[in-house]
Amino acid sequence: MSNAFIKTAVIGHPIGHSKSPLIHSHWLEKHELSGSYEAIDVSVDNLKQGVADIIKNGFSGFNVTIPHKISIMAICDEIDGLATTIGAVNTVTIKNGMLYGTNTDGFGFVENIKRSASDFDFTKGKAVVLGAGGAANAVIYALLQEGVPEIFITNRTKEKAQKLTAFNPEKIKAIDWALRHDVLEHANLIINTTSLGMAGNPPLEINLRAAPAHALVADIVYAPLMTDLLTRAKACKLHTVTGIGMLLHQARPGFELWNGVLPEVTEELEQLVLT
Ligand code: ATR
Repeated sequence: MSNAFIKTAVIGHPIGHSKSPLIHSHWLEKHELSGSYEAIDVSVDNLKQGVADIIKNGFSGFNVTIPHKISIMAICDEIDGLATTIGAVNTVTIKNGMLYGTNTDGFGFVENIKRSASDFDFTKGKAVVLGAGGAANAVIYALLQEGVPEIFITNRTKEKAQKLTAFNPEKIKAIDWALRHDVLEHANLIINTTSLGMAGNPPLEINLRAAPAHALVADIVYAPLMTDLLTRAKACKLHTVTGIGMLLHQARPGFELWNGVLPEVTEELEQLVLT
């Protein structure tokens, strides 16, 4: 590998809260690589110009976060099948001024569960996905890839859940939000992809009584780490997976694309991001 200084970034708006600079800087240091990773605030109206500036300034790639994950697609020169299917790009590589988009959110979600609950078998039963926003797309795609036999999506706005059934109408069903408690019966995996439970937001109100004892409850919210949902799942003696791992694992493929090294998620990094 050459010693060239590799410039990378995350773009979004607002961007001050992003943990990505902390994660990537940690890995750059750990692998003794010569490079930087910065947070660049790019507003909705300034996306095209913001990206043009990034290319002009010699960056090798960048992550894309809210609110640009969909609008960046129109600016990319090439988008891989994964990102096209999910309908969003979160990782862009720049080569000879061309932008190549992919999506690593599904990888992050699955990898987090595989690492946190190594005995978990995705193929053993149905998954219940709470929420049908941007994050749900990647989660549902990843669940299908892992061989989940049946997926129930329940969302406050049912039309959005209905839309997501198009991934695989035979395996996916949209369920009324009011019925979210009952649909947990026979669930192998229960995932919160809504913003409920996040600091400053109301908790996710769901009665876990119908969930079987072997069910795994995962939250993609990581602030707080132990959401109300996870605390109640633990009290019901259900297995739980926190959301921080998804954030950390989704960052790994981008780092590898730009720096040539697939970094690891360690407890040290987890602690760094959580403090
Ligand atoms: P993201 O891209 O992070 O998934 P999003 O697209 O804004 O964020 O989606 C947020 C999710 O949280 C949606 O499923 C949203 O439900 P709606 O589609 O009905 O908006 C869900 N959500 C947010 N606030 C909610 C609330 N108070 N009750 C129920 N669901 C809520």
